[in-house]
Amino acid sequence: MSVGVILVAAGQGTRLGADRPKALVPLHGEPIVTHALRGVLACPGLSSVVVVAPPGCVDELDALSAGALAASGASCPVQVVPGGADRAASVARGLRSLPQEAGIVLVHDAARALVPPEVFERVVHAVRSGHMAVVPGLPVTDTVKTVAADDRGELLVTSTLPRASLRAVQTPQGFLRATLERAHADATDAATDDAGMVEQVGGWVHVVDGDPRAMKITTPHDLEVASLWLGPRGVSP
Ligand code: CTP
Ligand code: MG
Repeated sequence: MSVGVILVAAGQGTRLGADRPKALVPLHGEPIVTHALRGVLACPGLSSVVVVAPPGCVDELDALSAGALAASGASCPVQVVPGGADRAASVARGLRSLPQEAGIVLVHDAARALVPPEVFERVVHAVRSGHMAVVPGLPVTDTVKTVAADDRGELLVTSTLPRASLRAVQTPQGFLRATLERAHADATDAATDDAGMVEQVGGWVHVVDGDPRAMKITTPHDLEVASLWLGPRGVSP
């Protein structure tokens, strides 16, 4: 079964607070989405890619995708489609455009620009080995507590979660295509990732090792960290 990747890049990047959508923000001289595409285009068994773009930036993402494809030497088709109002809607749009031959679908956040190839390999391998849904996850090092506002609006701790059973989950997340399509058709509650939709409809989600470099660039601090990892050239082009 060949692999199709949906690269969701349609968000505005509100928390990053840049002057353009997050996917187009420069990191070490290239837009964030170009870094993400480099990782995607090296994925084993790849047959097609759909990039989900901020509405209004489809042409720009088309040009960046063509450049990344040429630089990679890969020969798979890369399509660019406009995104939706939230992440789930953007994934759904990507899924509708993904060629049918892709029996395994990876959903990947462009904001996770620096995912090493081993993570793609582990996720694809686990789906090929028979898991319907696969996520990369990292053990949590902080103590995680639930909180609620008291009657003066101040936060109180309501419980401490058992850390050994927690994982911080990343992308790419891998699915049998039928599993992802059913989850998107039948899940009713909001979910921040696709595995969450599979959980809602009763599917099993398998966990493989994630990687610190698969961190999501969300805030200006994250962008600085990603930039430091890439070396001395700095954030600006
Ligand atoms: N995403 C998307 N379509 C949306 C919202 C998010 O394709 N309507 C994508 C983003 O482009 C990103 C990934 O989903 O690659 C994870 O979302 P997040 O990190 O929250 O990015 P933004 O929504 O852009 O950031 P913010 O929430 O700070 O606005
Ligand atoms: Mg968001």
